Amino acid sequence: MKQDNIFSTLKTPVDFNFDAAVVDVFPDMLRRSIPGYENIIRMLGGLACGYAQNNTRIYDLGCSLGAATLSVHRQTRDLSLQHICIDNSAAMIKRCESKLKRHMPATSVELICDDIQKIKIENASVVLLNFTLQFLPKEARFRLLKTIYNGLLEGGVLILSEKLIFNDEAVNQQFIDWHHQFKRANGYSDLEISQKRAAIENVLIPDSFETHQKRLADAGFTQTLQWFQAFNFSSLIALK
Ligand SMILES: C[S@@+](CC[C@H](N)C(=O)[O-])C[C@H]1O[C@@H](n2cnc3c(N)ncnc32)[C@H](O)[C@@H]1O
Repeated sequence: MKQDNIFSTLKTPVDFNFDAAVVDVFPDMLRRSIPGYENIIRMLGGLACGYAQNNTRIYDLGCSLGAATLSVHRQTRDLSLQHICIDNSAAMIKRCESKLKRHMPATSVELICDDIQKIKIENASVVLLNFTLQFLPKEARFRLLKTIYNGLLEGGVLILSEKLIFNDEAVNQQFIDWHHQFKRANGYSDLEISQKRAAIENVLIPDSFETHQKRLADAGFTQTLQWFQAFNFSSLIALK
């Protein structure tokens, strides 16, 4: 696994984007930046397994290198499923394609390089939005959730992982401090932490749990359960 040191030297501030340099170090970046990432990946496969229906589709929106799809695949090998993986970063899709071909050669996988806001969802039993919704403009989020809801079969689920903000300013700051402490413990310097924060703050706009819960209910989901939280990173499952 190649080590992420993208922000280790002083840089002119530019907005973060998922380019080839990021793709190259992405597994290490995720593991050292998102508390619980590896647990979420491992466990969401098991969760999805309880809802995946034979002869349906599994959508991975903002698939990056396909970690979530692979996890679902590992737990659902006995079902006939079509995996649809979408990401608007060409560099991510290219790397994802070679990885999935290697690890799930006999499974139907369609890789699409496009904006998830343009995608049609049909015959889906599971939709994954693993740390992706937070990169969409806020005003576009409800529309995407509605599209997902409409494309899900009865009994289907959306698994939604996100960075959270907290309405109480002091509580919010406490979670941010804990997160930065987690990154420091994983070897990131203060310069790396502050430069990454500056690069990502206009790009990753988090919502609160309450906002997610209400928006999911407004989109039609009958129940939302928070199944994982580590500091200000959480994963929810929303049921149709
Ligand atoms: C934090 S990564 C997701 C991690 C990945 N789901 C996983 O489980 O490892 C966010 C991904 O969403 C993609 N993305 C962001 N906005 C997008 C959009 N509007 N349409 C498609 N992909 C998008 C990025 O290119 C990036 O690969």
